Amino acid sequence: MFVRGVLVLLICCITSFALGLGDVSSGYELSAIIERNDGSIVAILDIIESSNLYGPDTLQLQVTISYEDQDRLHVHITDYDSSYKRWEVPLELIPRSKTPGSSPLKSHNTLFDDASETNSVGSERGSSHQFQFSYTSKPFGFAITRNSNKEVLFNSTPGSSHSFGSMVFKDQYLEISTSLPKSASIYGFGESTRPDGFRLAPGRLYTLWATDIASANPNVDLYGSYPFYLDMRSGGLAHGVFLLNSNGMDVSYQGIFITYKVLGGVLDFYFFPGPSPLSVVQQLTQLVGRPAPMPYWSLGFQQSKYGYKNVSELEDVVSNYANARIPLEVIWSDIDHMDKFKDFTLDPLNYPADKMKSFLEKVHADGQQFVLIIDPGIKTENNYSTYQNGLEAGIYIKDSSGSLYLGQVWPGPVNFPDFFHPKALSFWTSEISKFHETVAFDGLWIDMNEISNFCSGITCTLPPNASCPRGDAPTQCCLICDSSPTIKWDDPPYSINKLGSHKDLGALTIATSATHFNGILEYNAHNLYGFSEAIATNRALQSVLKKRPFVLSRSTFVGSGKYTAHWTGDNAATWNDIGYSIVGILNAGLVGIPMAGADICGFVNDTTEELCNRWIQLGAFYPFARDHSDIHSKRQELYLWESVAQSARKALGLRYRLLPYLYTLVFEAHVLGSPIARPLFFQFSSDPITLGIDSQFMLGRGILVSPVLSAGATSVKAYFPKGSWYNLFNYSQVVNAGEGSYHVLSAPLDTINVHVYEGSIILLQEEAKTTAQARKTPFTLLVAFPLQSTKADNSEPDQATGQLFLDNGDDVEMAIVAGKSTFLKYRASTLNTSGVIRASVMQGEFALQKGLVLQKVVILGMKAPPNNLKINNQEAASPIKCSYQASSHVEISGLSLPLGKDFILSWNTM
Ligand code: NOJ
Repeated sequence: MFVRGVLVLLICCITSFALGLGDVSSGYELSAIIERNDGSIVAILDIIESSNLYGPDTLQLQVTISYEDQDRLHVHITDYDSSYKRWEVPLELIPRSKTPGSSPLKSHNTLFDDASETNSVGSERGSSHQFQFSYTSKPFGFAITRNSNKEVLFNSTPGSSHSFGSMVFKDQYLEISTSLPKSASIYGFGESTRPDGFRLAPGRLYTLWATDIASANPNVDLYGSYPFYLDMRSGGLAHGVFLLNSNGMDVSYQGIFITYKVLGGVLDFYFFPGPSPLSVVQQLTQLVGRPAPMPYWSLGFQQSKYGYKNVSELEDVVSNYANARIPLEVIWSDIDHMDKFKDFTLDPLNYPADKMKSFLEKVHADGQQFVLIIDPGIKTENNYSTYQNGLEAGIYIKDSSGSLYLGQVWPGPVNFPDFFHPKALSFWTSEISKFHETVAFDGLWIDMNEISNFCSGITCTLPPNASCPRGDAPTQCCLICDSSPTIKWDDPPYSINKLGSHKDLGALTIATSATHFNGILEYNAHNLYGFSEAIATNRALQSVLKKRPFVLSRSTFVGSGKYTAHWTGDNAATWNDIGYSIVGILNAGLVGIPMAGADICGFVNDTTEELCNRWIQLGAFYPFARDHSDIHSKRQELYLWESVAQSARKALGLRYRLLPYLYTLVFEAHVLGSPIARPLFFQFSSDPITLGIDSQFMLGRGILVSPVLSAGATSVKAYFPKGSWYNLFNYSQVVNAGEGSYHVLSAPLDTINVHVYEGSIILLQEEAKTTAQARKTPFTLLVAFPLQSTKADNSEPDQATGQLFLDNGDDVEMAIVAGKSTFLKYRASTLNTSGVIRASVMQGEFALQKGLVLQKVVILGMKAPPNNLKINNQEAASPIKCSYQASSHVEISGLSLPLGKDFILSWNTM
């Protein structure tokens, strides 16, 4: 149970911690400790010696330590004086339940094999808590130890072997560090573009301050803030640490320690014990919210561009995709359709309502979808109804003088809705609803929500008699702004490394002294703006469409995935950026935003035929697959080059065949939080080589994607963890990785390597131009056993497992509900000459009503063709055919097994 007062961690003399060079404070000492009836512990701390660097110290602190369930340890540190309210992430954004084990979602853990924490390395079930908490008294520091192996996972007490100072707690500056073993592999602290790769590189500073800066810029704070890290220790044991704090911060990773320097709020830590990396993400999302269910169609391929001049261009793009026989699911509209860039308007000349209407009727009749953009800045124009409605509702953000905060974005002068305002949701819903009557969009793209501002000022006003924006330089500030800080929120004593050069917090965004509803300071809530807008947009869209909403947001926080998909922003059409995109997507998945993608073929600069070719091969396997580019970039639709079109048909062809598998991953993400795209070490955490691999990734448990990421290459060196891997395009090229090894695979220009792993069962359908068409095609069950010829020992059966979730694809709820959805579990095993595949169905009615059938079974890894094939214990008869192809690949065709019914398919090879 809870261990109190373990003073053994670091026993040392106080004087060695007197203020040293670089220390901001001598720290705190424990003055009292109380055990509460609910089992939590409260410690009271007093400052040892105060210092004024970065402001006066908070003299007394209260530390509350509680186990919120077996999986979660919560350490909350705030001012002892409860009348002094410090900022905390509002419960409306991240509702925090304090009831142990209360989440109904937990029951889904049994649906997915090895999806829960019970399977992987070092299961620790059985002990009542997985962590031990201990502390030192003077200076106060705490440590978290894993009970099962006594490994210290987090230790904030400074000691001679650590080069960090004591905990600091001030009004506008908090500091805390933890020591780490050198061997720990750390991931997280997004969002930034990472040339170092997915695993953090010692010596880097990660700044968390939502900023509109192109993701083409490496190592600077980008659009989102993720104060979370995953720590992989030797043997593949994982744990996670989440600092629930939305203030700006610098996080410095020095290999043997991490230091947080935070601009305010409280130190609100959650520790997740794993012990597998997948279970860490599941534990995190249990707290912050499971990812949103995504409509089936959002898994289709999508085309966008900033700069489509008129409706005819959109029409041409759609028909060119059809002519080129490349799947296209969604056509997007950037700010081009707007009347002078005003939200919820149409340019009467180029995007007239009647033309849009007939265009969208055709799009919808062809089973395709349309998504359009909205930006938060609402043009301050007298006869613009959206603006007037916002004024009447009183929902705009104010500046420090109490006037509406004036900023500038594409339309010129704007005010920004405050999504913390209780009336903002009805304002937003009403605008979305009215616009939907004119333009029947299917999803919404919320951009520029860091908030982006082309001016930087504490207060800004309109210039007299000048046009704003200027026609020749629309992104140059045209307002008159006062930028000299007069209050502490605009110029805090500690300056985070914004944009790599300690830029003002208000640069490229609104002033941090601006206020939201109830006096909430932008200073505290800045990193939550995109999150709050995503919540409002998701709710509004759901109430307008009465269907499962699709929202794509640029600025995100940990927990945003419950409401929105995410893309990595303005990347560049370069060979570096194609590689960075994988890391960006993995980083989003790590914090519960699994529906993530990057602009395929690159956003800024002109792409090239070869780059676009390789990018669509990779992008076809992003969870969210959209080609998008800048107004200044040349067109890059996939049909523009024959080589790219050919690759697109091939790679997207496989994506569409994999839709049932991908959609089941969306379901798993929704019920458990599991990322869709995962790093290799999520599956093979005890293989240390996988810890550093980020040029390949997995989709779920069963599929490995190994793209070409460099110019001129026609082969790829890819790592294959232990076991047999079958090429998914032809089943015949098998990689036998032994205990895990690198392989050089052929990758001519039209080829990406995608493999399925032994032990997997996946459901496939047929290629099609839209997901709606693909859903009408028959199913194939693919079972991958280890390659038999390589097996030394045939005494143990080989097993394979898989799942399938089916529903309408756009019901608001995504759950296993009688008549509305069907869930299937597949298990297969083979030993020597016999084998069996079993399907067990939960709520089969939905699949039966839809008439869904399994027509083919493909079994990989067979030594000989099956004989005596039986289905539900009956001899299989014509038209069922069984053929043995090269390389252990067996095809059983001519089946018509209803997906909604259990079956047993068995054979022997004698
Ligand atoms: C910035 C976004 O990141 C980009 O995708 C979009 O095209 C432009 N804004 C214009 O809306």
